[in-house]
Amino acid sequence: MLKRFFVVFTALCTFVAPMRADEGMLIPLLIKAFESDMQARGMKLTAEQIYSVNQASLKDAILQFGGGCTAELVSNQGLLLTNHHCGYSQIQSHSSLEHDYLKNGFWAQEKKEELANPGLTAMRIVRIEDVTALVLNNASGKNDQAVLNQNIVNLVKKAVEGTHYEAEVKAFDYGNAYYLMVKEVFKDIRFVGTPPNSIGKFGGDTDNWVWPRHTGDFSVFRIYVGKDNKPAPYSADNIPYTPIQYLNISFKERKEGDFTMVYGFPGVTEQHVVSEYLKFIMEQERPARIAMRDESLEAIGKGMKASDLVRIQYSAKQASIANAWKKWIGQVEGLKNLDGIAVKQSYETNYKSQAATKPEWKKYADALDSLNQWIKMNADKEFRYAMGVEYFAVGPEFFKLMKASNDLFNGDWEKSPDLFEAEKTKLMASARTFFKNYNAQVDQEIFAALTARYQKEKSAYIKNWNQVNVLELTKEIYASSMFTDSTRFLKFIQPYSLKNYKKVAKDPGYQFYQTFYPIFVQEVVPAFRQCQAKITALMQVYVEGKYAMFPQEKHWPDANSTLRITYGQLEGSTPVDGMAYTEHTTLDGMIAKNATGNPDFELLPRMLELAKSKNYGPYGQDGELWVCFTGSNHTTGGNSGSPVLDENGYLMGLNFDRSWESTMSDYLFDPNRCRNIVVDIRYVLWVMDIYAGAKHLVDEMTLMKE
Ligand code: ARG
Ligand code: GLU
Repeated sequence: MLKRFFVVFTALCTFVAPMRADEGMLIPLLIKAFESDMQARGMKLTAEQIYSVNQASLKDAILQFGGGCTAELVSNQGLLLTNHHCGYSQIQSHSSLEHDYLKNGFWAQEKKEELANPGLTAMRIVRIEDVTALVLNNASGKNDQAVLNQNIVNLVKKAVEGTHYEAEVKAFDYGNAYYLMVKEVFKDIRFVGTPPNSIGKFGGDTDNWVWPRHTGDFSVFRIYVGKDNKPAPYSADNIPYTPIQYLNISFKERKEGDFTMVYGFPGVTEQHVVSEYLKFIMEQERPARIAMRDESLEAIGKGMKASDLVRIQYSAKQASIANAWKKWIGQVEGLKNLDGIAVKQSYETNYKSQAATKPEWKKYADALDSLNQWIKMNADKEFRYAMGVEYFAVGPEFFKLMKASNDLFNGDWEKSPDLFEAEKTKLMASARTFFKNYNAQVDQEIFAALTARYQKEKSAYIKNWNQVNVLELTKEIYASSMFTDSTRFLKFIQPYSLKNYKKVAKDPGYQFYQTFYPIFVQEVVPAFRQCQAKITALMQVYVEGKYAMFPQEKHWPDANSTLRITYGQLEGSTPVDGMAYTEHTTLDGMIAKNATGNPDFELLPRMLELAKSKNYGPYGQDGELWVCFTGSNHTTGGNSGSPVLDENGYLMGLNFDRSWESTMSDYLFDPNRCRNIVVDIRYVLWVMDIYAGAKHLVDEMTLMKE
């Protein structure tokens, strides 16, 4: 009875003073400070169970996947879950017209059918240490880079001595703090299964960054290790990893208000940028980059629609170009809606009045003023750099082959003729991989459009650039350059010997690239770097001022691809006046989208049949099958695949996106509308078990009904 009363009483309190989602991506090492707040919000774990170096803890089940995503261990045999879009390039690389895993999905029925992925890694954090004092030891200041670097080298060396670990020291808050990360890197990660694109990428670009959402964004991998259970490069003899800790599955009903916690590797946030910088990205940088990508996406989209081969070749590239493109559009819109520049300016006014209250704080106001002035004067340097990246790194594909060829064509082979053949063989192998995913028509359209745009943008700082006749140049390069055609390339390279070395200089693609790319590397990049260094030094002082002058506020360092924790609750939102988002979506909603006829919502017949028969197995709730839900957790890119955990630390689902109205949260977080999007683990299991007949994988996991 008393217990009942308490429940009601707590519920009332919650009603009177609703708990707000909090911004912040917390360092696991420091989570003790938040333990009581988390427990007050319903969490039943202790800080030690979340992060510990003395015993197994949740952190040991969480891995950085492939450098850019998060994954989690869910069985005692090294079974790993991540997003479909995180495993996408692996799924794509195993696919062909004969084995179209993109279209039909893939499920290894036994371990020996699990597929190797050269180069793919998964990294576990062994421990985190605050090494700020050690990094700054003997330094004359926070920017005494030579001393800092030496201290870092020593720390890393000491941290890994006598172990199979790797280590890294990361700067936080623009070099106001340093943490050492000791890592265990697994190198044999095999592909176990994926649903078809019509589930894993359901909604495509139409629904990307959007709620309501019905994407089954998951794929399955497994970590293999040597016989000693330690990381080892791929070998047929490797065995499934026995983890220190794996996650149990939260297999129970959910409701709005449930505690949620996201544990993963968020990539980059920029909460501290000053008003002038926000203005620069909103008004200049983002719009120009969006326009560049409009062009590539149009060319790629056309090609993919016209041919199945091009669809397979370009699907991963298209998804990656489109993803940032759409996020940027959402960000600019969101920042405008929030009146972001004014919000920053008013913060800055307040910051300066606080700084005026003590003479020793004057340096903080000065740093802020210098930042805004400096950025206003030097934004063009960053702009040129950004456009160069869009053009040379994201633009025409053949630039990539050009880069890969650089060593062979520019090496000093007279001195080391014996290495020449090896380099040639290497390049021929890269060329084959390159051309497997290349279509000259698509690339030609991208080249023509982006070159014209690059020429037109303010990046026309390059001498001679305006004399280039883009149409003629495009025709010539795609009709005769060996870099744009596999037959021409192999014909040139196969008989290529030390004698005719340098003949390549006559190639029109090569000539073009060699004229303009070096300017980017030698002028644009260094100017940008210099500018960045200056800004970082000023930001260091500015951010130090936030901690010093406003100690009562909650401070947290920006995301920097290190392990972080954020918590909130399962929660819908009211993103704009007059509109409310409910907190979950269902299979019925997915079928309704399918009925609209948009190809992004295409489903295979099996899904339609299962949905019609309402065959939810044990995975439903109240006669529905939950597909996705939203939470008020502060996340960003890199959190994809991150486990969303319940009050017991059990896996509720996989984080994979944010809603349209929250894409601006990397700059400004708004608790009223910022929501992360999660695919419910019960739907993931339903797809494995009922849809795909891969129940053996579900059987590896531990399902917790309480
Ligand atoms: N927006 C999500 C993230 O940033 C998902 C991207 C994958 N989906 C897609 N349709 N491109 O990575
Ligand atoms: N899809 C993103 C990723 O790949 C996560 C979404 C976000 O940026 O919040 O990490």
